[in-house]
Amino acid sequence: MIVLLANLKPGVAKTTSAGYLLHAIHERGERVIGVDADPSRSLERWADAAGFAMPVMSLVTTSIHTTLPQLIPDGAHVIIDGAQAEDHAGVIASAARIADVVLVPLAPSGVELERTLLMKKFLEDDVAPLTSSGRIDIRALLNRTIPNATSTGEVRGVLTDAGWTVASTTIPRREEFAASWGNPVTARGTAYDALVTELGIGGRGA
Ligand SMILES: Nc1ncnc2c1ncn2[C@@H]1O[C@H](COP(=O)(O)OP(=O)(O)O)[C@@H](O)[C@H]1O
Ligand SMILES: [Mg+2]
Repeated sequence: MIVLLANLKPGVAKTTSAGYLLHAIHERGERVIGVDADPSRSLERWADAAGFAMPVMSLVTTSIHTTLPQLIPDGAHVIIDGAQAEDHAGVIASAARIADVVLVPLAPSGVELERTLLMKKFLEDDVAPLTSSGRIDIRALLNRTIPNATSTGEVRGVLTDAGWTVASTTIPRREEFAASWGNPVTARGTAYDALVTELGIGGRGA
């Protein structure tokens, strides 16, 4: 499975989510590689600094859809950390063309909601017609949520009313995630492990 993390904006937890998803899949004994499609190379630098166990390569081009399929090891899952699409539309469109799922992270706040609604339009109007199936599996991923806050349910409702599929797993606001960049990652026991289960990747864990 190829999973792309993408949204219009920076700072919505694309890279954090990519780092944890890579580990949640790896910890289940599944093959997985990371692709950093952001010129800031945050995922690649995190992997280097922390010594990730899986390969992470940088691929910031508008030909990801033709290049990447030839680079995927047999049976490996792929997590692509996308750059903010507002600045790198061509790169993200290319990655979305071959993604099985595009996960669109957002916090349950007004500004992130507004931009996220536009992300779906970009993927559906500009990218989906370029795919072989003519459609893209787009799912919102609510993150940095506050336990029991009404905002989570409200934003979930707005997204659902706007025709979104919203992942039932939400990622809470946690210091563990905020402080994770540059450090080794253990995903077991976190919401990202539940997200991998929801995505249907791998078994019950090693
Ligand atoms: N679940 C979370 N709880 C708290 N802070 C988070 C969480 N996820 C991400 N962050 C923080 O939010 C900021 C943006 O995350 P990042 O993954 O770099 O976003 P992006 O790749 O979309 O630019 C970072 O400082 C990160 O540590
Ligand atoms: Mg990033």
